[in-house]
Amino acid sequence: MASPCDWPEPVVRVQSVSESGSSTIPDRYIKPPSDRPSPNLSPPDINIPLIDLAGLTDGDLAVREATMKEISAACREWGFFQVVNHGLRAELVDRAREIWREFFHESMEVKQRYANSPKTYEGYGSRLGLQKGAILDWSDYYFLHYLPSSLKDHNKWPHQPSSLREVVEEYSKEIVRLGNVLLKVFSKNLGLRHDYLQNAFGGEDIGACLRVNFYPKCPQPDLTLGLSSHSDPGGITFLLPDENVCGLQVCRGQQWITVRPVPHGIIVNIGDQIQVISNAIYKSVEHRVVVNPNKERVSLAYFYNPKSDLLIQPAPELITPETPSLYPSMTFDEYRLFIRTRGPQGKSQVESLKSQK
Ligand code: OGA
Ligand code: NI
Repeated sequence: MASPCDWPEPVVRVQSVSESGSSTIPDRYIKPPSDRPSPNLSPPDINIPLIDLAGLTDGDLAVREATMKEISAACREWGFFQVVNHGLRAELVDRAREIWREFFHESMEVKQRYANSPKTYEGYGSRLGLQKGAILDWSDYYFLHYLPSSLKDHNKWPHQPSSLREVVEEYSKEIVRLGNVLLKVFSKNLGLRHDYLQNAFGGEDIGACLRVNFYPKCPQPDLTLGLSSHSDPGGITFLLPDENVCGLQVCRGQQWITVRPVPHGIIVNIGDQIQVISNAIYKSVEHRVVVNPNKERVSLAYFYNPKSDLLIQPAPELITPETPSLYPSMTFDEYRLFIRTRGPQGKSQVESLKSQK
């Protein structure tokens, strides 16, 4: 299938709608009742697991093993966890988030220079998916590539604020380092060779891309979502949330759990490709974002992905008569095109692969 070239209808920036000061939101953003955020669903005392990554390099073997176990349980039971002592300096994570906030507060004229198209999605955007007349999410975003270097194009990164590129470079380098560490941990925890996942992802030739989400204030947050329920298509996602504004909700059983971020923590979640390679021992869990009447929210979602033209399939070591292979082989390129055309639609994407087997 050829890449789609343009949006099906004129693009409206959610930030402009928000700043118009209307007390109601346009119909385009009103979700059907079953998709709206339900009040008080999440018990306030439940949160995703919090893991101190300093434990991975502790001098005491028992501490290292306990940390590996915590990560294993979080991957199997939640698909989501929050990490601290991850090696990214507190000043760097704050700077990365705040510089993007500044970008979204640049004039519309500046931001429009980077307006994106569905061909590559790079740049400033306001929708995912191409279905004409679709109900849209209450967010704008900025999408860029860091790896492979052949896709990195500084001309497609904002030039303003002037230090943005430097900060994004440093932040990106650190996220890739963290991704390499976690792939090793996941491999060992799955009983695979320590370099299994890194090799399955293409060794050094992984993909890494950043989506910065901007959720403007919303006068009717009960009627819409900042980001519809979806699972992340890639390998691992590293989410830097807005420390002061909750919004991310993770699906657990029949409930939506609101994530409460810890200072300078990074939220890690398993993407669809690791669900496939682990043959569903690790789950890529659905999540969504709710918005807020009084506060905007900025988050940085870093997607650490397999090289896009490698075949991804369940690890043969994990296939047994009791646990037969659940997924067909598919490249990440093929998988992503499938999703980009349809927009975020819950878990249907990876689950629908099963029926193709
Ligand atoms: C995403 C995502 C959550 C958030 O960008 O894929 O799930 O809190 N973001 O912004
Ligand atoms: Ni996501």
